[in-house]
Amino acid sequence: MEGELPESSPASFEVRVLPDPEALAEEAAREFAAAAAEGIAARGVFRVVLSGGSTPRALYRRLTQQPYRDSIDWRRIHFFWTDERCVPPEHERSNYRMAKETLLAPLQVPGENVFRMRGEEEPRQAAAEYAEILKAEFVSDRGMPRFDLVFLGLGSDGHTASLFPGTKALGETKSRVAANYVAQLREWRLTLTYPVVNAARHVVCLASGEEKSGAVAKILKKERGYRQLPASLVRPGTGSLLWLLDHAAAALL
Ligand code: 6PG
Repeated sequence: MEGELPESSPASFEVRVLPDPEALAEEAAREFAAAAAEGIAARGVFRVVLSGGSTPRALYRRLTQQPYRDSIDWRRIHFFWTDERCVPPEHERSNYRMAKETLLAPLQVPGENVFRMRGEEEPRQAAAEYAEILKAEFVSDRGMPRFDLVFLGLGSDGHTASLFPGTKALGETKSRVAANYVAQLREWRLTLTYPVVNAARHVVCLASGEEKSGAVAKILKKERGYRQLPASLVRPGTGSLLWLLDHAAAALL
């Protein structure tokens, strides 16, 4: 229904709790490797969406080490982002810069396989441009990009990607990419929208640290008001949803 987000539940749903951030990064790297092998075998290319923030840093670094460095066919992987801050690519707050420094440059990923959101552009223009990139990249999906794997982070307020509580992009059910004004941060963000995230084959939500435990518990235990937390609406209808938590983030489960 127009404007309504589907109540669809994921094809498969799992929560895994790891002892600490290092084990969390290892488990996420294993998931990356498994999804990459599946995507490359099935389609010759693995299209993965990287999340921003600080949590995935350890995952990205782990992927540049053995056995992943030599066992994954990095030339067959196309990299995208869940969201971006509206800053230039060299800015210290850029999600692209963080991934470039920790993953893409160390693995010498060719530039033509990296599809960054242009945070330096006017937000609406950048969102429209990224939607065009997705359209060109996913011709066979009849316009709805079906990523092989989407990594998501979680904010203590329950936001994910740049889908923040009370912001306009939450209700976006047509555009694939939104320019989203986040009043609580007094800044614009670029973000994939729910229809794209929820079309993915695999979605992995990563949460680490005690400060995320409240949002994790509210969402996973469906506590009163949980649907106000944007991450609760991540439900890949025909894909798998895996929450990877460290012990601290799972403390209230
Ligand atoms: C961003 C992210 C955002 C992030 C969460 C968690 O651009 O900030 O995409 O959704 O995943 O805010 O951030 P931390 O990993 O830094 O806690």
